[in-house]
Amino acid sequence: MSFLKDLKILYHLVLRPVRGKDHAQRMENFYAGQASHYDDFRKRLLQGRELVYETLGKACEGTWVDFGGGTGANLEFVGEPLRKFQNVYVVDLATSLLDVVQKRVAKNGWSNVTAVTADATTWTPPEGSADIVTFSYSLTMIPDWFAAIDNALRILKPGGRIGVIDFYVSRKYPAASLKKHGWATRSFWPVWFSSDNVFPNPDHLPYLQRHFETIMLEEHRAKVPYIPLFRTPYYQFIGRKPLSS
Ligand SMILES: C[S@@+](CC[C@H](N)C(=O)[O-])C[C@H]1O[C@@H](n2cnc3c(N)ncnc32)[C@H](O)[C@@H]1O
Repeated sequence: MSFLKDLKILYHLVLRPVRGKDHAQRMENFYAGQASHYDDFRKRLLQGRELVYETLGKACEGTWVDFGGGTGANLEFVGEPLRKFQNVYVVDLATSLLDVVQKRVAKNGWSNVTAVTADATTWTPPEGSADIVTFSYSLTMIPDWFAAIDNALRILKPGGRIGVIDFYVSRKYPAASLKKHGWATRSFWPVWFSSDNVFPNPDHLPYLQRHFETIMLEEHRAKVPYIPLFRTPYYQFIGRKPLSS
C-alpha cells in the first residue's frame, strides 16, 4: 500500500510535466495530486528539519512566519513550545497543501496557527514584523530567492532568527569555512532537481551569511528514496538579524 502511494508521488516527481502560466499556478499544479501523501514521502527525502524547528521553538517566542510551509508538518517538530507563540503563519502558494495545514490545525488544537495563501517574496504579517522566519526546502523552489531572503530580513525584528534547511551545492571555490563539492556533485544535482522546479544553488548560503549572523550551520548529505548510493547535499542554517540593521 505504501509502495503504491510512493509510486503516485514518484509519478508526480519524475514523469508528470508541471503546468501553469505563473509560479503560483505551477506550485499548485505540482502539489495538488500529491497533497494527501506529501508528508510520508518527504519525511524520507527532506532531512534535517526537526533540529532547526525544535531549536527555534525552544529559543524564541512571539510571531513565527514559515515561508513555503507546505502542509505545516514541520510545526509538529516544535511540540508543546509552539503553543507559547502569539501567532504562527504558514505561508504558501499551493492551496491544496494549505488545506492539509487547516486539518492539522484542527487536529492539534493550534488556535495560534494560520494558513495564508501568499508569496514569500512580498508577504508581511499583520503585526508588521516577525520574531522567527523559516524556509524549509522552499528557497530552492522560489525563483526570486533573493527577494524572499530580502523580505525575511525586512520583516524580522532586529535580533530575530531565521532558520533555513535546503538542498544546495557549493561554489567551485567556497569560503574556507564551508564544504567544497566536486564537479560531479555541483553539476548533477541542479540538473536532477530542475525538472521539479527545485534549484539547488551555490549562492544561498553565502547570501544568508552575508545578511545574518550565523548561530548554527551544518552541511550534510541525505539518502534519496529509491536511488541507492546517491547522497544529496543539504544544509541547516540558523541566523540572527543584526541588532544594528
Ligand atoms: C519542497 S516544499 C517544502 C514544504 C515544507 N516547508 C516542508 O518542509 O515540507 C516547497 C514549498 O514552497 C512553496 N513555495 C514555492 N514558492 C513559493 C513562494 N514564492 N511563496 C510561498 N511559497 C512558495 C511550495 O508551494 C511548496 O509548498
